Amino acid sequence: MTMTKLSANLSYDGDMGLFRDGALVNFVPRYFKEIVPVLRKPDAMPADTVVYRMYRDTTLPNDAKTLEKHSLRYDITIIPPMVVGDEYLKTLGHYHPKAKSSFYPELYEVISGKALYLLQKTADESYTKVREALAVVAEAGDMVMMPPGYGHITVNIGDTPLVMSNAVEAKFKSVYQPYIDHKGAVYYVLADGKNFKFLPNASYGNNVPLGVVKSNFKKLFKITKPLYDEMVADPVKFECLVDTDKYNIPLGSLFSPV
Ligand SMILES: [Fe+2]
Repeated sequence: MTMTKLSANLSYDGDMGLFRDGALVNFVPRYFKEIVPVLRKPDAMPADTVVYRMYRDTTLPNDAKTLEKHSLRYDITIIPPMVVGDEYLKTLGHYHPKAKSSFYPELYEVISGKALYLLQKTADESYTKVREALAVVAEAGDMVMMPPGYGHITVNIGDTPLVMSNAVEAKFKSVYQPYIDHKGAVYYVLADGKNFKFLPNASYGNNVPLGVVKSNFKKLFKITKPLYDEMVADPVKFECLVDTDKYNIPLGSLFSPV
């Protein structure tokens, strides 16, 4: 087994395992039965199959105080390459709750593999009518901000495991129910040979065009190091994730059309 060194003294085994000092790091498994409500083909595999792993709060003990002081959390998620029915394997999907003036944002980083982040904004908190949908394709080293109010799913559109990290406010609880109620995101991402294609999800009352964009986040925030190293070195840079009054990034500078 070849191990790859990651930030925070973590090693990755190339499959679904993250290790530190030779020991497997604690993780939360996501079972197939939990994502069944958001799938097009809910009978694609046995209910107890672990479809992805969430390694939560993988901060080094030495750095924990720094991130805690700034109310930040760092997690890693590993999603294997898999087609489920006719869809690429995806996360359940969720929105974030409201903080002060706005909703909590979140920053993702692709460590290895190829991700498609599907973002959607609803007209109000009943989460029924979607008024905007964005697809962001990201590869190793890319960082993608989920702006306040945008629900999101992650899709592994590559042929290797998708290893990604996220930086987020430490304490809030995600809101999953709107995705369960609507059988997934506003679009399904289907496997199409080695490519992918989008299929509108008829469970939503309206059809909204999908903007395909790329992320400008790293340039915008002058990021030169992996996310973990940036957070530990300069947590103030990420304060808009926690204090939403300080979030002031126009959508047009965050993303560009491709
Ligand atoms: Fe999130």
